[in-house]
Amino acid sequence: MIKLAHEKQRILICGGTGCISTGASNLLESFKSTLKAKNMDCEYDVILTGCHGFCEQGPIVIIEKDNTLYCQVTIDDIDELVSQHLAANQLVERLLYINPIDNRRISSHKDINFYKKQHRILLDLCGKIDPENISEYINHGGYAALQACFEQKPTDIIEEIKVSKLRGRGGGGFPAGLKWEYTRNADGDPKYIICNADEGDPGAFMDRSIIEGNPHSVLEGMLIAGYAIGSNIGYIYVRAEYPLAVKRLRIAIDQAEATGYLGENILGSNFSFQIKIKEGAGAFVCGESSALMHSIEGHRGMPRSRPPNSTKKGLWSKPTCLNNVETFANIPLIILMGGNEFAKIGTENSTGTKVLALTGKINNTGLAEVPMGISLRDVIFDIGGGIKDGKKLKAVQIGGPSGGCIPEEMLDLPIDFDSLYKAGAMMGSGGLVVLDESTCMVDLAKFFLEFTHNESCGKCTPCREGTYRMLQILEKITDGLGTQDDIIHLERLSNNIMNSSLCGLGKSAPNPIVSTLRYFRYEYDAHIEDKTCPSGVCKKLISYRIDSMNCKACTICLKHCPSQAIIGERGKPHLIVSENCTRCGICLEKCPFQAVKMG
Ligand SMILES: Cc1cc2nc3c(=O)[nH]c(=O)nc-3n(C[C@H](O)[C@H](O)[C@H](O)COP(=O)(O)O)c2cc1C
Ligand code: FES
Repeated sequence: MIKLAHEKQRILICGGTGCISTGASNLLESFKSTLKAKNMDCEYDVILTGCHGFCEQGPIVIIEKDNTLYCQVTIDDIDELVSQHLAANQLVERLLYINPIDNRRISSHKDINFYKKQHRILLDLCGKIDPENISEYINHGGYAALQACFEQKPTDIIEEIKVSKLRGRGGGGFPAGLKWEYTRNADGDPKYIICNADEGDPGAFMDRSIIEGNPHSVLEGMLIAGYAIGSNIGYIYVRAEYPLAVKRLRIAIDQAEATGYLGENILGSNFSFQIKIKEGAGAFVCGESSALMHSIEGHRGMPRSRPPNSTKKGLWSKPTCLNNVETFANIPLIILMGGNEFAKIGTENSTGTKVLALTGKINNTGLAEVPMGISLRDVIFDIGGGIKDGKKLKAVQIGGPSGGCIPEEMLDLPIDFDSLYKAGAMMGSGGLVVLDESTCMVDLAKFFLEFTHNESCGKCTPCREGTYRMLQILEKITDGLGTQDDIIHLERLSNNIMNSSLCGLGKSAPNPIVSTLRYFRYEYDAHIEDKTCPSGVCKKLISYRIDSMNCKACTICLKHCPSQAIIGERGKPHLIVSENCTRCGICLEKCPFQAVKMG
């Protein structure tokens, strides 16, 4: 008997960019052919989904009937998975996730800490449905929110969004309902909806993953915004470097048009809406709303001063409502659960959830959706599984290149817009970089400054010249040539640049300096006063020597030194010739007897 598709068990293979890059697409074909060869294809459907969030462990495969999650699956494992797990109901132990805390293997993904403390409402379908098949979205309640909106007045929908207290997820946290109301009330025709999917922060992949995993949720959010605001045209500005996101968006738009959810007289109503894609060329400043609109218009992506705000004069000087991907993806959920229910998730002034990209020195890197108000500690130690290699946590950098650093002592800080801002960091788009004891905070500030300086569009002097001057000062300090006057200059420049730059890029560029000076001033002082880098990162401030008491004259360091800076022979203690040493640290890493010392 042939089983109907919906009666079949499902095997969910992660088809996010991370897992695809490690070979997930090959698994799909291999699973299908193996099932066919064993006459089991009538019992199982194999689906390529969006990102499951646990990218560190990819490629991920979930057997849906018992929620078993298998990690780092390769083609060579498929036969065993089919004959052992599917046919004989026995776990393939060696492919199960190992909990870094107690080295226990865990089978059900529901029991893995990474998932336990999450509150996945936006990402829920990302690992469950085939993003390239609109029927799967519809079967899981997709487009029901849009249909419900047609029964309501557009102004009532805006009211519902205001009740939800949803704040924009692109970084600024501006209330979405208010932005919609301003655009609706502005004079001018046509009105535009723009979805900002530029996502240029290094290390961020929240928006890209939502699009890759559930593109229709974003389209539905835009459609509802169009209906509420009185707009018939939407643009999605997405980076060309995200080809999978672009591909899945195109497929989603085509399927939505073919099934009557996009286009003329949607679902028999008198509302029409079209969505166009504009591929960005990958400039960080093009994520800034006014620069993004210039880019869609075909000009160079440079910001302009405000007012007028885009809600009054935006794209082609017409009223425009621009929101982030995650903001739009929240809209169908708010309509379906009601603004009041939504507002119960999170905190009083930061409602709902936030998708975070966890990176850095953390065991479980990946994508996590958490309720607003959760503490940094819970995210890092429960969801993130703690710090890599048993090292000590030093700080958390949150909010992208213009965010700030929160020190270890403040780990109980709740993740919400206002608490982070007060602590000198910001939510930004949700990038969270975990830093361990081996990070030099002055070097880190330099790294981010270098990024913002390179990405400055150069239109305004404070940002163009100011970030360059700050970078030069940081270089001077990390080279061991800094003075206390440099700190005074950094503080003054930070103030000036924040107050006088044209757009958010310059206004927030000094944040990494301001926050590291606030919490890690002693590290700047060590570089300036003692001419040392306590974390051993700044090359000009470190030197290596060999402790003759510990040296066993084994020649390992000598063999590995790439610059022939070590002299000695078997049986005789070795020496490092300082002039030849490039301070790469390989000798320190390779010596089995801890004979190489720093400082
Ligand atoms: C330099 C710079 C880059 C930005 N990049 C992004 C981005 O990639 N995605 C995004 O949604 N917002 C980005 N923003 C914020 C947007 O300008 C805008 O505030 C946001 O998209 C509005 O949507 P929201 O109200 O839904 O948050 C950036 C801002 C600046 C100053
Ligand atoms: S890409 Fe597979 S878990 Fe993220």
